[in-house]
Amino acid sequence: MEILIRESPEAGCLLGARIIAGLVRRKPDAVLGLATGRTPLRLYGELVRLHREEGLDFSRVTTFNLDEYVGLAPDHPQSYRRFMDESLFGPAGFDPARTFVPNGVAADLQAECRLYERRIAAAGGIDLQLLGLGRNGHIGFNEPTGSLSSRTWIKILSEQTRRDNGALFGVAEEVPRHAITMGVGTILDARRCLLLAFGPAKVRAVELMVEGAVSALCPGSALQLHPRTTVVLDENSAAGLHHTDHYRWVDAHKLDWQRSD
Ligand code: GLP
Repeated sequence: MEILIRESPEAGCLLGARIIAGLVRRKPDAVLGLATGRTPLRLYGELVRLHREEGLDFSRVTTFNLDEYVGLAPDHPQSYRRFMDESLFGPAGFDPARTFVPNGVAADLQAECRLYERRIAAAGGIDLQLLGLGRNGHIGFNEPTGSLSSRTWIKILSEQTRRDNGALFGVAEEVPRHAITMGVGTILDARRCLLLAFGPAKVRAVELMVEGAVSALCPGSALQLHPRTTVVLDENSAAGLHHTDHYRWVDAHKLDWQRSD
């Protein structure tokens, strides 16, 4: 894992946006895996700015989102499809036909999961998968103790995750109990992973993910097995790590071609 600690979520999001923008400039038809949640919002804002002010072209980019709530139609205010359309796809000029989010109201949800995997494969696989980190260590909606080799499937959300996401719904009780999510195995197939985690609420999850054993108790720890994962933290989320001197040393001594940004 490459661990990059920045002074603030703002700086971390700008770094993440530079990494994604660099990929899209090198490969205009890149395949991006995308995430929802509060964490990547500023990163998406920066991609929108790069599109509007610097002409960064996303029209040939294909995207696959990590997950969607079961039972929420694409136009539901809290659906992840709506979140993506409003925060990124619309304002940054993505081609709607190239943006994929699992369909949480598919008549046959299991068939929808298999179709999602086939679509990712048909697109040539994911070049870069953007990830957030749940307070309990989840990635996508892969909750603790789930398989570390899972594929896209329907998962049951933990009570903590429903509480954490309840703020966006107004009432925690209204958060669906199930979600379609890429599996950990699907995520590990991406050619590069970029995980962002900021703030004091993520300290324990970051510590387990980066310095703990690879364990289904912290699904994010499976990224230790991935050949190219970049983790972007702020000072708060990195506060529980024991080897920050080493991460900063490595960050400061990279050769030019090794630098992420
Ligand atoms: C949600 C999403 C995850 C996201 C995580 C963190 O449950 N399914 O993909 O990374 O929670 O959310 P936030 O960024 O709001 O802290």
